[in-house]
Amino acid sequence: MSRPLRVAVLVSGRGSNLQALIDACERGALPIELIAVGSNRARCKALTIARGAGIANFAFDTADFPDRASFDRAVFSALDDVKPDLVILAGYMRIIDDGVVASARWPMINIHPSLLPLYPGLDTHARALAAGDRWHGASVHAVIPALDAGPVIAQVRVALHEGDTPDAVAQRLLPREHALLIATVNLFAQGRVTITPAGIQFDGRRLAAPLLLDDNDELHLEPPVPTGF
Ligand code: GRF
Repeated sequence: MSRPLRVAVLVSGRGSNLQALIDACERGALPIELIAVGSNRARCKALTIARGAGIANFAFDTADFPDRASFDRAVFSALDDVKPDLVILAGYMRIIDDGVVASARWPMINIHPSLLPLYPGLDTHARALAAGDRWHGASVHAVIPALDAGPVIAQVRVALHEGDTPDAVAQRLLPREHALLIATVNLFAQGRVTITPAGIQFDGRRLAAPLLLDDNDELHLEPPVPTGF
């Protein structure tokens, strides 16, 4: 039997995505081994979650490094030490130096709260509302040396309503974001998704458009037609 995918996670904040991964592993819904959690914030809640779950963890303080690249190199070297098959940025609130990203020896994905390529960066919910969008969502994408710009692997959509606030949207989206991350990592664990220099491969073919998460938390090539779109 093949061994489970070895997954490391980088975090900076509350850690709800990390918690969702841990919960999915515990209920037998995600055949991966969470081998390490790293952070740029030693006191973040996500690290407390990692400790509570008995996952090896590390944090570096940016004040101990002369520049961005040397900090990022230290983080990547700590990741190299644990030999991950996949690294997940799950609320890692730090722009990683381009050269360091390019040096990664493992595939790396990020979860971002918008329908990329719409709204890279911050304040995505407020920006979608201000634009009058009817649909918003979250994306899991491959990390490349450009912010939130790597090829998108999978997305989940949520409808925006009249009178929505950024907080209300965030609350509605978060559980869908967790389901999206779990479903996407599952495809990596099953060897159905890989990141190659030519793009994302899904079931042996190049993925032309992001997979979409349905209401049963399954990812599909064909978009389920959303009502009222
Ligand atoms: C999530 O919304 C994620 O999409 C974004 O940062 C947030 C992290 O939340 N990149 P958490 O720390 O996983 O709770």
